[in-house]
Amino acid sequence: MSLETFKFQYSLLDSKMSLSAENKSLMEQAIIARENAYAPYSNFQVGAAVLLENGMTVLGNNQENAAYPSGLCAERVAIFYAAANYPGVGIKAVAISANAILSPLEKPAAPCGNCRQAMAEYEQKQAAPIAVMFMGASGQVIYCDSVLHLLPFAFGATFLK
Ligand code: THU
Repeated sequence: MSLETFKFQYSLLDSKMSLSAENKSLMEQAIIARENAYAPYSNFQVGAAVLLENGMTVLGNNQENAAYPSGLCAERVAIFYAAANYPGVGIKAVAISANAILSPLEKPAAPCGNCRQAMAEYEQKQAAPIAVMFMGASGQVIYCDSVLHLLPFAFGATFLK
C-alpha cells in the first residue's frame, strides 16, 4: 500500500479587480448573466461566462423548473451552448459568479460536481486546460488553471475504451 497525496495550486484574489483584463471582463459578463438567472425556487442565482479560443464569449445562467430536477446549472447551460454552437472551437476559460438573493454572497461558491464533470469532458476532449474562476456577488475570487484540478480521479472517455 502507498499513501498518495493530491495537491494543486490555485490563486486566491482579493477581488475581480486583481484578475487580468481579459478575465476581469469575463467575470463581469458572468455577473451580468447571473442577474438574468431564472431561480424562483432557490433564490440562488448563478452566472457563467465561457471564453472561446476565437475570442467569443458565451453566457449562461441557472434555469430552474417547478419539477426541480429538470432545471440546470449556469455552468452547464453555458458550456453546452458553447459546445452546441461552436463545435471544435477551444474553450479557454469559464468565469462564475453566484449570489443568494435574500442574503448577498460575499465568498466564492465553487461549481458543483456535475458541472465540474461536464467541464472536464471538454477539457479532456480538447487536451488543453480550461481555467475556472469563481466568486460570490462580491469579494474574493478563486482562480484555477484547470478543471481537472477541481476533480481528482475524474471519470473520462478513456475508461470506456
Ligand atoms: N447552481 C448552479 O447554477 N451552479 C452550481 O455549480 C451550483 C448550483 C444552481 C442550481 C440551482 O438552480 C441553484 O443554484 C441552487 O442549487
